[in-house]
Amino acid sequence: MGKYDGKSVVITGGSSGLGFATARLLADGGAKVLITGRTRATLDAARERLGNGVLTVVSDAASMTDVNDLADQVKTELGQVDALFVNAGVTRTVPFESMTEDVYDELLTVNAKGPYFTVQKLAPLLSSGSSVVLTTSVVNVLGMPALSAYAASKAALRSMTRGLARELLPRNVRVNAISPGPIDTGILARSMPAEAAQQMVDELTAGSPMLRMGEPDEVAKAVAFLAFEATYTTGAEFPIDGGASQL
Ligand SMILES: NC(=O)c1ccc[n+]([C@@H]2O[C@H](COP(=O)([O-])OP(=O)(O)OC[C@H]3O[C@@H](n4cnc5c(N)ncnc54)[C@H](OP(=O)(O)O)[C@@H]3O)[C@@H](O)[C@H]2O)c1
Repeated sequence: MGKYDGKSVVITGGSSGLGFATARLLADGGAKVLITGRTRATLDAARERLGNGVLTVVSDAASMTDVNDLADQVKTELGQVDALFVNAGVTRTVPFESMTEDVYDELLTVNAKGPYFTVQKLAPLLSSGSSVVLTTSVVNVLGMPALSAYAASKAALRSMTRGLARELLPRNVRVNAISPGPIDTGILARSMPAEAAQQMVDELTAGSPMLRMGEPDEVAKAVAFLAFEATYTTGAEFPIDGGASQL
């Protein structure tokens, strides 16, 4: 018998990285998992690795139409939701002086507005005793170069975690955040030129109290804990950063 048998889980941005690792952990434990992403091919590849029981929905967190449609599809496919992992996000490293309005808007839309309305639209489907986990970032409490707008988007999400936790409490729904430090998912390589990405990885590794990056599976375990086991915890942010925000 699986630890998560009978549980229904929705993971935005579940086709790679942290979302994928969490989908694998929960699906392996017996949960019925629905993942989203913007790209059909990436979702199909993820489903192939996760097993055919995993449901996939193409949905862009930046599109209100997609967010509304996602709620309809989740209702049809799962009925109710026991854990909602709002994880889809983008990183853009741009020095403050050269930040453009378009990139700023993209960061705030995908990383803050999208998650907010995803929770709003899926809230009616959240079962009593269920929980929401949002992915913030260690940079929301650290000043790091070229990440000011990204950090602001994640700080908004951290703040929302408290407010949403308060508003969903009467429905017996907990809302928490995970705050990852540098995790080896390839997100940096996908968001900047290879040389710059490697330089940042080297700096992050050297600056980490544990002198290493984290693994996606280490994040997945924390998400599963907050989602299903941390029954006296709401409004909190759980760092998974090798001590970077604390030491
Ligand atoms: N890795 C780290 O070091 C780290 C540290 C702190 C915080 N985080 C946060 O953790 C989350 C996951 O990051 P990751 O490293 O796992 O990145 P990743 O491997 O690039 O995965 C991101 C996932 O989100 C999806 N996605 C991206 N934009 C989307 C959008 N607009 N709508 C829907 N889905 C979208 C991607 O699929 P498509 O591209 O196909 O849409 C993919 O499934 C992000 O919120 C990121 O900011 C990561």
